[in-house]
Amino acid sequence: MYYEPGNIPHGLKHDPFKSCVVPRPIGWISTVDADGNHNLAPYSQFQNVTFNPPIVMFASNQDSRGGRKDSVRNAEQVGEFVWNMATWDLREAVNISAQELPPEVDEFELAGLEKAPSRLVKPMRVKRSPIQFECKYLNTLRFPGNGPMGSADVVFGKVVAIHIADEVLDADGLVDIVKVRPIARMGYFEYTSVDSKFSMVIPGDQRALLGGLEGSPDKVSMELNKS
Ligand SMILES: Cc1cc2nc3c(=O)[nH]c(=O)nc-3n(C[C@H](O)[C@H](O)[C@H](O)COP(=O)(O)O)c2cc1C
Repeated sequence: MYYEPGNIPHGLKHDPFKSCVVPRPIGWISTVDADGNHNLAPYSQFQNVTFNPPIVMFASNQDSRGGRKDSVRNAEQVGEFVWNMATWDLREAVNISAQELPPEVDEFELAGLEKAPSRLVKPMRVKRSPIQFECKYLNTLRFPGNGPMGSADVVFGKVVAIHIADEVLDADGLVDIVKVRPIARMGYFEYTSVDSKFSMVIPGDQRALLGGLEGSPDKVSMELNKS
């Protein structure tokens, strides 16, 4: 089949676009507003952008009334946000925290989640989540879109602190991702979770390239200093 979004209809019962960009990691974003109201919401339009320094982004559409979402407003207002790893064990809490609610409703409480204070930023961390990034807000890119929800605010933040639970580090100091079991969004109301993995290395033994692939600034500099 072939279609052109907004031009030639797909003719299917459900729009296939989001089910083609899969699996999407979930940015489970915690923020706080200037009055101290805590907020937590999942964003599957989430990614790391670069690694030195580490920068992440989440893309927020507008809410059903066409307004900017709490996570965006709070990140801009306070200049900080936290990313929490969404896991299989926490899937129900992730889902509960996605409800569209007034800013004064604390989704940590709604989902029965204990908060953990951050070290360098004001927003709280999800204590049970095995990995969290403390982020300083950088900027927002706004993409105008169609209908009340179409416009997107893409929020970028620099990762200034990273927490990883010792239990999910293996004997070699690698994050044991199958043990973490992240959940990821697919299309429709479908999700997947990471319960297997495989490795492969770019051929050619180009060490700086491999350092970049690993996301290790130290290895990149070491290799480039050799030449
Ligand atoms: C797994 C999951 C992923 C989501 N991803 C996004 C997303 O990428 N962008 C978005 O605008 N809304 C997304 N949503 C919906 C938001 O979580 C929802 O609008 C939430 O109420 C926003 O909360 P906030 O206003 O407190 O920021 C997602 C929902 C779920 C359950």
